[in-house]
Amino acid sequence: MGTVGSGVVQIIKKNQDKLMHQIGCPVVIKKILVRDLSKQRPIEVEAELLTDQADEILFDQEIDVVIEVMGGVQDTKDYLITALRQGKHVVTANKDLMALHGSELLTVASEHGCDLFYEASVAGGIPILRSLVDGLASDRITQMMGIVNGTTNYILTKMTNEGRSYEEALKEAQELGFAESDPTADVEGLDAARKMTILATLGFSMHIDLEDVAVAGISHVTEEDINYGKQLGYTMKLIGYAHRNGDNVEVSVAPTFLSNNHPLASVQNEYNAVYVYGESVGETMFYGPGAGSLPTATSVVSDLVGIIKNLRLGVNGKSAVSPQYPKSLKNDGEKYSKYFLRIHVQDEIGVFADITGIFAKHQVSFEKILQLPIKKNETSEIVLVTHQASLTNYDRIIQELYDLQAVKEVKSAYRVVRKS
Ligand code: HSE
Repeated sequence: MGTVGSGVVQIIKKNQDKLMHQIGCPVVIKKILVRDLSKQRPIEVEAELLTDQADEILFDQEIDVVIEVMGGVQDTKDYLITALRQGKHVVTANKDLMALHGSELLTVASEHGCDLFYEASVAGGIPILRSLVDGLASDRITQMMGIVNGTTNYILTKMTNEGRSYEEALKEAQELGFAESDPTADVEGLDAARKMTILATLGFSMHIDLEDVAVAGISHVTEEDINYGKQLGYTMKLIGYAHRNGDNVEVSVAPTFLSNNHPLASVQNEYNAVYVYGESVGETMFYGPGAGSLPTATSVVSDLVGIIKNLRLGVNGKSAVSPQYPKSLKNDGEKYSKYFLRIHVQDEIGVFADITGIFAKHQVSFEKILQLPIKKNETSEIVLVTHQASLTNYDRIIQELYDLQAVKEVKSAYRVVRKS
């Protein structure tokens, strides 16, 4: 009965007629598990529905479906395994749980003829999982890019549009309730990585583990970086990037410069969006609220509708398809990107030639170059945007730049993505 749970109760009550029309029977809330029975609730519910004993739900033979919106991993997993073993279908909004233990939970569900649906675990109110699994079932997806964390999108939007510092924008996000009091998982990219694990597993039909996702967050992004991006026609976003080339895939989360005409560049504030490229359909994009009580509850209750429709057809536990492909990850030589680099160098003759020589040696050419003097310490700032480079060559270039005596620091480095 927290933020999402209250939304679920509200939607079930408010939309009872529509639900009844779709599934042909009423949806009845039998019990609601809470930690503290005496706590004030965001909405009114009959006191007799509340219990602080999970077993009253898990072992109640009348209950067909358990909705989990309590968060947490280990205890929650144990509850859900018990529920599935008791033959109860499960809806969960828990991305941490699904990213870490989704495969195991789905196996238990299918062994017991149960559905386990988790639409709300990625991008709250956007029906993206169903779109990947059903809507694009006929296509081969080669790329997914997601703005799947509202907190960081809000912070980057404020930094870009209103010139706020990272710290100011984060504080504002916390005051408005977007960011958690401990925002580490959001700002360091872990929350987005968990969601990308789920998206990549479904979109590529290949089991991707959280450890397979290379993760960088936004806490080091500066106003200077964002302003250079503006001069170059780029917008900074925290992008979850999943790409398939042949049989091999890569998944990462990192602050990324998008060309301003990329569809994801205009996704503002706390909104989420997932851009999906399929070989036949081409570009698609799904946009909407990534969190919040009623948006997230919409996805949860839609999963519930799916389960009840399956119940009436007698086909529960048959819709989860196990991955078609064994895991096959790209090596660094197969991961290609353009890069933005901001480098501080000693302002002296020949430095520029030395730097460009390193890029030429690794066959990486430039798309854009800016050089600006910095007043103090005879330092120059060089901003480079490269053409496509493999990650192997990029790593070698960074290493060799640091070997040059005139290079003081690579201040920042970001992936650059243009509209395809
Ligand atoms: N902390 C998440 C976000 C909430 O900021 O998007 C939704 O998972």
